[in-house]
Amino acid sequence: MDEHGKRAGRVDVDAAAAHLIAGALVAIPTETVYGLAADALNPDAVRAIFAAKGRPAHHPLIVHVASVEALAGWFAPPLPEAAMRLADAFWPGPLTLILPRGPLAHDVVTGGLDTVGVRIPAHPLTLALLEAGPRALAAPSANRYGHVSPTIADHVLTDLGDRIAGVLDGGPASVGVESTIVDLSAGTPTILRHGGVTAAELEAVLGAPLADGTHAAPTVVRAPGQVASHYAPRARLEVLAEGALAGRHRALEAEGQSVVVLGRAELGEDADIWARSLYEALRAADAGGPDVILIAEAPAGRLEAAVRDRLRRAAAPR
Ligand code: TXA
Ligand code: MG
Repeated sequence: MDEHGKRAGRVDVDAAAAHLIAGALVAIPTETVYGLAADALNPDAVRAIFAAKGRPAHHPLIVHVASVEALAGWFAPPLPEAAMRLADAFWPGPLTLILPRGPLAHDVVTGGLDTVGVRIPAHPLTLALLEAGPRALAAPSANRYGHVSPTIADHVLTDLGDRIAGVLDGGPASVGVESTIVDLSAGTPTILRHGGVTAAELEAVLGAPLADGTHAAPTVVRAPGQVASHYAPRARLEVLAEGALAGRHRALEAEGQSVVVLGRAELGEDADIWARSLYEALRAADAGGPDVILIAEAPAGRLEAAVRDRLRRAAAPR
């Protein structure tokens, strides 16, 4: 419900822009997952994101813009050579760059870090919104904290319909898992989160290997949102080899547990198809209220690392 006690619905680009300019929250489509957006220059609006998600306040948010020019003031110049090359190669697209912060980046956006995460998302409606409304939108994924990320507008309305002004419906997300995060703020470029651009693709553009920061311990982790348990359904999730699913299914049912199985028969044979359908499949499996969801390890494919990472976090003990 909004302040008048109503549940939010779909809005067009102009209405979304007006809501954001007025300091309200609007869910926006991107190629990765839906984002929960606020005007990145309005600290009160950005604070409302944390309240709506139930997210701890120190987690930094990604700033979304429509062009490299619109990043002026958000990072501390000069833009590193590696950033220019990656921006040229992958923006608009599923890549977030971590840069030293500039004067526009308020503490509520950066979580008090001395860096800021930025990206140009590849979705025509959100790029139009960034022209019609605020030039920079702070947006985490539009799910309740720790829950499965949304890949269609209805997921957003289910999770957050009582706490946002509306959702800009851009159809199903084409990538389906979050952006890859690369830290360019110090030393060797470091992957902090696997996502829609692969390590091999990044390395081909940079001409050098990247460091892998995706398994860092929580105390030293540079992407504070990368806690072990994340992207989780309500049911207990077990990740098994494809060939072990049937036996485990029988054993759990013999114990009286209700089980949903997600293997290659349900999700396909390629990691990119899994990426596109994983969150939707987890939400659908969860909807029936099973005790356990059994899911196979990700098959090979371009986005295998990203899908494996999400399965590991979704299955992590809470
Ligand atoms: O694909 C995506 O990146 C989606 C869409 C909406 O753009 N957004 C997204 O946001 O996944 P969120 O907040 O759910 O995840 C962003 C991650 C968090 O783990 C956060 O800690 C990390 O980015 N992050 C943001 N700013 C950072 C910074 N300055 N340094 C390190 N990590 C940062
Ligand atoms: Mg998220």
